[in-house]
Amino acid sequence: MKNHQEDDPLKKLPPILRKGLDRNLCVCNEVPKKDVIDAIVNGATSVEAVRAQTYASDGIGCCKQQVERLIECLCAPDADET
Ligand code: FES
Repeated sequence: MKNHQEDDPLKKLPPILRKGLDRNLCVCNEVPKKDVIDAIVNGATSVEAVRAQTYASDGIGCCKQQVERLIECLCAPDADET
């Protein structure tokens, strides 16, 4: 039996995306990357949902691609799932 929900979500991110977790991913609204990751892990699986929870990408939208990339990585099915 798999308990993938309890795995560290950061393991799903490529090493480069695990850096700077305390830095603002959304500079416009001062939202740290770790807050965005938390929101995604807790069910915000679209840019709109992340924006509603954290305000990330609610500025001029310049971090939208970064939010999309995090969603893509964190919501990808486990590679070893059959
Ligand atoms: S950095 Fe997030 S909207 Fe500009």
